[in-house]
Amino acid sequence: MTLPNGKHPVIRTRDLTKDLPLGKTVVHALRGVDMEIFAGEMVGIVGPSGSGKSTLLGLIGGLDTPTHGTIEIDGVNITRMNEDQLTEIRNEKIGFIFQFFNLIPTLTALENVVLPIQFARKARFSPEKRAKELLDLLGLKDRMKHRPSELSGGQQQRVAIARALANNPPLLLADEPTGNLDSESGVLVLDALREIRANAGTTVVIVTHDRALAEKTDRVMTLVDGQIVH
Ligand SMILES: Nc1ncnc2c1ncn2[C@@H]1O[C@H](COP(=O)(O)OP(=O)(O)O)[C@@H](O)[C@H]1O
Ligand SMILES: [Mg+2]
Repeated sequence: MTLPNGKHPVIRTRDLTKDLPLGKTVVHALRGVDMEIFAGEMVGIVGPSGSGKSTLLGLIGGLDTPTHGTIEIDGVNITRMNEDQLTEIRNEKIGFIFQFFNLIPTLTALENVVLPIQFARKARFSPEKRAKELLDLLGLKDRMKHRPSELSGGQQQRVAIARALANNPPLLLADEPTGNLDSESGVLVLDALREIRANAGTTVVIVTHDRALAEKTDRVMTLVDGQIVH
């Protein structure tokens, strides 16, 4: 499906359902989510704690598989893919950003960004050149040789964004990317994501419980109790 303006859904879910076992009971984490997110959009997903935001992002990102329903990424149905196939989709198409940055503490900022480029073993980019360009774009030119412990939270998150973009994925998924930052650093991180979207056309999905932040995206989806309510 392509719209007249050339936009196509990068993410499309139908009746997306996830039940999680909890002791002898079941948690209905997602209860039939239908949604589309289009190429180049920046979408915020908000909702109370426990409403299923992380579960939804994990399914979209191929980190988990649904109980029922379907997920298409870039026109490809990933619903029944095995672990190897999902790994390939993740490496090819998706960059992840998490609340706690998850940088490798013994590596410098530059090395943290170089790593996934080397790992992809594609001659598309010179790893070091690409990593430097990204860190420069994210305002970290003079912090490349620093280790994570020598950087502020906001700087660490921007390194994590550079790392997520290392292989130029069409889709960036961020789970509470500003959840561990003061509001000023949070605004800088959001600005960085906006700039990435403007420069590379990357589709960006941001899970946040910060309404003010979500209001700065193109479109906000609200999850309540495993369903999109608005
Ligand atoms: N591994 C798990 N096992 C059992 N229940 C889980 C697990 N992960 C999340 N849940 C439950 O699923 C629901 C949705 O969780 P989650 O997607 O993490 O919500 P959010 O990110 O919106 O806070 C919650 O009720 C949560 O307690
Ligand atoms: Mg969560």
